[in-house]
Amino acid sequence: MNILTWYGHSTIGINTNGTKCIVDPFFDNNPASPIKASEVEADVLLITHGHSDHIGDTIAIAKRTGALVISNYEIVRWLGQKGVLNTHAQHIGGGHQYPFGYLKLTMALHGSILEDGSNGGNPAGLLLTTIDGKKIYCAGDTGLFGDMRLIGEEGIDIALLPIGDNYTMGPSDALRAVKLIDPKVVVPIHFNTWNLIDQDVEKWAEDVRRETRSIPKVLLPGETLEF
Ligand code: NI
Ligand code: MN
Repeated sequence: MNILTWYGHSTIGINTNGTKCIVDPFFDNNPASPIKASEVEADVLLITHGHSDHIGDTIAIAKRTGALVISNYEIVRWLGQKGVLNTHAQHIGGGHQYPFGYLKLTMALHGSILEDGSNGGNPAGLLLTTIDGKKIYCAGDTGLFGDMRLIGEEGIDIALLPIGDNYTMGPSDALRAVKLIDPKVVVPIHFNTWNLIDQDVEKWAEDVRRETRSIPKVLLPGETLEF
């Protein structure tokens, strides 16, 4: 059994095959997170891009727990300069088999500069195939793009899509993304963290139910979903 936890914003826990993975571990400055970085247990940290609301507490959690950090080459190189050495670099289109599953980086339409101005490479989404064959697509921060259809062709069980607008897809483009990806379940993320990205998520979920075959699961920060 696999357990997904949403910690608010784009921070997602995925417990699978005995491994605790955290996507974009943004806790201490995340007004929506129910926990602090110092409480987080992690074996693996997955980083979609270099922005501070995604890198978040990566360095502190990696140093405390020794978790393996997986991201693109540029971010992994930057983390190495900060003393985080248990890392694995991948890049867009490339997959790798880990003990917790097969992880592929996918394209995302966004930026990735790091806090100190360093080049964070290209932003990515994550496509994880668990050991028991479930496929989870975390889109990361992205605008809508037509090749989401190609990602959908893989047969997605759970898609995590930003709906907050301004920095990423808003509700209407996220609804179009659901139609392209056709996941069994869709979980909205990257909204209601700050006023600028406040959205009526229940209305969006209603639109998904009415216009697509996917089941929307609106989680509260800290809430979990078994799959
Ligand atoms: Ni971003
Ligand atoms: Mn973001």
